[in-house]
Amino acid sequence: MSQSTVFDLLGSTGDNREVRAKGWIRTKRDSKNIIFFEINDGSCMKGLQVVVDKEQGIVDDVLNPKLTTGASVDVEGRLVPSQGKGQGVELLAETVEVLGEAPEDYPLQKKRHSFEFLRDIAHLRPRTNTFGAVTRVRNTLSAAVHVFFQERGFLWIHTPIITGSDAEGAGNMFQVTTLDPSAPPRNAEGEVDYSQDFFGKKAHLTVSGQLQVENFACSMSNVYTFGPTFRAENSNTSRHLSEFWMIEPEMAFCDLDGNRHLAEDFIKYLLSRVLENCEEDMDFFNRWIEKGNLENLRKVLETPFAHLTYTDAIAELEKASSSFEFKPSWGIDLQAEHEKFLTESVVGGPLTVTDYPKDIKAFYMKQNDDGKTVRAMDVLVPRLGEIIGGSQREDNFDKLHSRITQMGMDPQEYDWYLDLRKYGSVPHSGFGLGFERMVQYVTGMQNIRDVIPFPRAPKTISF
Ligand code: 4AD
Ligand code: MG
Repeated sequence: MSQSTVFDLLGSTGDNREVRAKGWIRTKRDSKNIIFFEINDGSCMKGLQVVVDKEQGIVDDVLNPKLTTGASVDVEGRLVPSQGKGQGVELLAETVEVLGEAPEDYPLQKKRHSFEFLRDIAHLRPRTNTFGAVTRVRNTLSAAVHVFFQERGFLWIHTPIITGSDAEGAGNMFQVTTLDPSAPPRNAEGEVDYSQDFFGKKAHLTVSGQLQVENFACSMSNVYTFGPTFRAENSNTSRHLSEFWMIEPEMAFCDLDGNRHLAEDFIKYLLSRVLENCEEDMDFFNRWIEKGNLENLRKVLETPFAHLTYTDAIAELEKASSSFEFKPSWGIDLQAEHEKFLTESVVGGPLTVTDYPKDIKAFYMKQNDDGKTVRAMDVLVPRLGEIIGGSQREDNFDKLHSRITQMGMDPQEYDWYLDLRKYGSVPHSGFGLGFERMVQYVTGMQNIRDVIPFPRAPKTISF
């Protein structure tokens, strides 16, 4: 008999047909005549109740003690209307087989474990309600990313993970090398001789696929990347990872306004897909993780994103200057407390801030005529702050060249990127959405380490 998922069985009627289900036992109740146990297989949050009539001798005294929380089972029987409350159907067992026992030291009992505790137990974490829900929402979001762009004719470009250039010019990259760290070859000056390294030059894990994807935007017009990125910043916060996933669309013939509107449409599309497809999981988050989350997200869908220039945002912050530890003034980088205030107290929802001072933004952003600001945009959301960073790109060869030099970077390293401004340059724009921050935003999860299967952060690399 073919096997059904718990999700499919719970969604069907108890018409007494023969079915087969496999999963892991969550809970068990053993009474005089009947054994009840609930199995979960990850297809949804709810479990399927299995009912065993002891008199039928299906489960003997040897098998019964093996039916414990965490054990894996294969059950055949009839799907019938449930006698109990809270579920439509249950499985009246005819055969029960334990595939893998879970001895007494299995740590997932009915009590709740902290997320920190779970991060260290690889086999247990994905079996919890919360992480199961995160996993399903994350999957729905990933699929929705592709649907959104594919429906709009964007091409998915697989940009490299190992790179020869620093996309953000910020220098916080992980190095990739096959040289012996204790005895690397050295040149006459005593410096490490990277010409003898694997790639014949210094190589790193990418911080962003943007520079490479710009090459494809300036040929295929509308493109995007979706892949892992790596940052060696020593940020131990609830919104930073050393390895995270990023979605980076890049559009030729597009200015900052077009970019801003795409970002808003994109976030709203992702939200609507999760609200439609992950009802059970979203109800769970709303109840246990972030109260009022659902109502807030529905409101976001109905309201246009607010928009302020950086200069206006600073003016708003200065009005409330006394409430900040870090005093706001024109030229500073917005701190988490400022982003929180702007989104939560000033606009009460997502906010796009544009036209930041050029000195606090990356070298590739298009310079405004005022000589002070660039065509940057960040999308900020309540609780988390920055979720998207992007810009219109500098498409003027001379301006970009001199900016690279001014910032102490080597223009020769970027000649392949500068060439785009030499041959058929066009206005173009793009942004990066931090995928884990989006998962956090949607679910209300507090710590970014709990929305990725295997978090990597400073001094943290279990498994
Ligand atoms: O603002 P960022 O650094 O922008 C870029 O990387 C551009 N190349 C994007 C582009 O224009 N194509 O990063 C983009 C987003 C941030 O807004 C944030 O959501 C996320 O990536 N992000 C991180 N998420 C988790 N951990 C980190 N350490 C992150 N750093 C950035
Ligand atoms: Mg940024």
